[in-house]
Amino acid sequence: MAKWWDERLPLPRMMHDQFIDFPTPRNLNYLWTFGGILTFCLVAQIVTGIVLAMHYQPSAAEAFNSLDHIRRDVNYGWLIQAMHAVGASMFFIAVYIHIFRGLYYGSYRAPREILWILGVFIFLAMMATAFMGYALPWGQMSFWGVTVITNLFSSLDQVIPGLGTAIVQWLWGGYSVSGTTLNRFFSLHYLLPFVIFGLVILHIWALHVAGQNNPTGIEIKTKSDSLPMYPYAVAKDAVGLFAFVILFAWFVLFLPDYLGHPDNFTEANPLVTPPHIVPEWYFLPFYAILRAIPDKLGGVIAMFASIAILAFIPWLDRSPVRSAKYRPIYKWFFWLFLISCLALGYLGSKPAEGVYVFWARIFTLYYFAHFLIVMPIVSSIETPTKTPRSITEAVLGEDEAAGAGAGVPAGAAAAPEHR
Ligand code: HEM
Repeated sequence: MAKWWDERLPLPRMMHDQFIDFPTPRNLNYLWTFGGILTFCLVAQIVTGIVLAMHYQPSAAEAFNSLDHIRRDVNYGWLIQAMHAVGASMFFIAVYIHIFRGLYYGSYRAPREILWILGVFIFLAMMATAFMGYALPWGQMSFWGVTVITNLFSSLDQVIPGLGTAIVQWLWGGYSVSGTTLNRFFSLHYLLPFVIFGLVILHIWALHVAGQNNPTGIEIKTKSDSLPMYPYAVAKDAVGLFAFVILFAWFVLFLPDYLGHPDNFTEANPLVTPPHIVPEWYFLPFYAILRAIPDKLGGVIAMFASIAILAFIPWLDRSPVRSAKYRPIYKWFFWLFLISCLALGYLGSKPAEGVYVFWARIFTLYYFAHFLIVMPIVSSIETPTKTPRSITEAVLGEDEAAGAGAGVPAGAAAAPEHR
């Protein structure tokens, strides 16, 4: 049957070559299970989202109550709705771990630049999807979050008078956030995950052309450096996914609303502004950057630049080695960067005043300095520590590696720089 199919459309062969026999580095740690976990998150969001859409009403009059109806009346609606809402947070937890893994081990370096840049586009699309999804329950935070963020475009009035206002009114479909806005957000919120899906296919394709990076940052050179994806990497992915699902289920079953905001249990009211308008936790670092800049347009530019800059790091890092494991100076800056992001997240949740703004400015400065100053300079002056000669040597040590099949070339896909 597979042979019959293969002669007509070689899908079984492709699946076999790319997901069963594919050579994966033998030293991957659990941080490499997050790609699979993210794929699971995307599928879970799409499946639960499709079911929710069967019962949700995207109108200003009915949206809030339709959520209540889903949670109370629809069979297992409470579960599906909680899975979708908690799932968004879990998706972002996983993507942040996935991105920081890439930053630490230099997975963005050649020949994986396109793979990385596709990741940046996926991240942007995820943010747009989550932002529009948060509008749908039509609670107070939904309404005011949309009002604040869409209004950011009005800062373009500083460039061409009237342009910003025109864009904002075009986005709203009127002169304020209304049911019209909600309806188009619903349409785009349904559409974008499929765009993400397409981008993920390209992302995985690019990954399979370049081959996977690994904790040493050294490419696969000999057959003993790699193992077939099935059963080795697949089994490890299953363990990682299982642990992740336990955490996911714990939130869904015990604290389904913990990650949300209490104000969103009050229906949207254009006449009452909540005292503190805050986005979901995963946007907080970017929100802190936005508010750290005293000028509105400047804040918007800084916020978008903080994501766009990620696309350029393959060229800002010039170190002769990929992995921070062998970079005695850069390693410390990596942790400083991580701390800065967490600090920005905390500051984004606080009111934009006094000491909070002061520190948000300091950490915003470091955020950009990390990429524009620290990365190029440290990578040029630092002397890396001794790297193992091969992945096998990193796992088995020098003596055993010598007897473990060194010299036998691995599959072409695993050694892209030699092609
Ligand atoms: C829906 C979101 C995403 C999905 C489903 C996804 C999926 C995957 C998968 C399955 C892998 C291979 C397994 C692994 O290395 O963990 C991978 C690798 C990778 N991803 Fe993603 N990814 C997503 C988002 C991102 C983002 C936002 C970035 C960066 C901005 C990124 C950058 C990378 C890089 C650099 C690799 C290669 C890692 C290596 O081999 O060391 N990904 N991704």
